[in-house]
Amino acid sequence: MATPTLEKADEAGAPEPGFADSPYITVTFRIRRFNPEVSEEASWQDFQLEIDPKERVLDALHKIKWELDGSLTFRRSCAHGICGSDAMRINGRNRLACKTLIKDINPEKPITVEAIKGLTVMKDLVVDMEPFFQAYRDVMPFLITTGNEPTRERRQSAEDRERFDDTTKCILCAACTSSCPVFWNDGQYFGPAAIVNAHRFIFDSRDEGGEQRLEILNDKDGVWRCRTTFNCSEACPRGIEVTKAIQEVKRALITRRF
Ligand code: SF4
Ligand code: FES
Repeated sequence: MATPTLEKADEAGAPEPGFADSPYITVTFRIRRFNPEVSEEASWQDFQLEIDPKERVLDALHKIKWELDGSLTFRRSCAHGICGSDAMRINGRNRLACKTLIKDINPEKPITVEAIKGLTVMKDLVVDMEPFFQAYRDVMPFLITTGNEPTRERRQSAEDRERFDDTTKCILCAACTSSCPVFWNDGQYFGPAAIVNAHRFIFDSRDEGGEQRLEILNDKDGVWRCRTTFNCSEACPRGIEVTKAIQEVKRALITRRF
């Protein structure tokens, strides 16, 4: 298949290609395509763009979709690292396309973009996130309390808030879970993201559902499946210490102190 090419930069005021100060370079994006209505097999397709390397991979995907091939399918919403919808494997590593600058991932070589692993690919870069969100729902990611509704806010010290500060940052992008070899081999494992979100409530001094959540994660598909490979911590675009959170949940299960 001929490589679709986009030669002209389209932003207003962009220098002409070839001009000495032009920031534009030619970059090849090698994208894993899959359309079950056309073929049962996935295949790689190259697209060449003239693009400013200070732009993001998400900008490149937009250019390809809007100007070269409207059938390219991917998720994105906020475009600013908040919604978690555009996690994908870029040059073999899970990243958010909206937070990945082209200049930072060696644009002299083809940049590979493919769907995250361990979840069923529905089309191109879009996977079925339902098993991921089911695991998230299973750990009851909400405050559980007993007794009468309080007449004032539930107070918490700064020290108690600090205990789960890191795990509040999760944006449910699935970069951690889909980088975990245990999850690749057995999609029944809850996965790092669900454990991170259980941690966020187990260690919240206002919550009273910690024992329930720990029992859920004590399951054969729970926290003991973790092999401490650190893939999850490396993949997390929010810098959450995912492996540490999993270790803390394991420790809480043994000591019943949290
Ligand atoms: S822990 Fe990090 S990588 Fe995992 S879902 Fe949350 S934000 Fe994404
Ligand atoms: S598009 Fe929302 S996090 Fe990237």
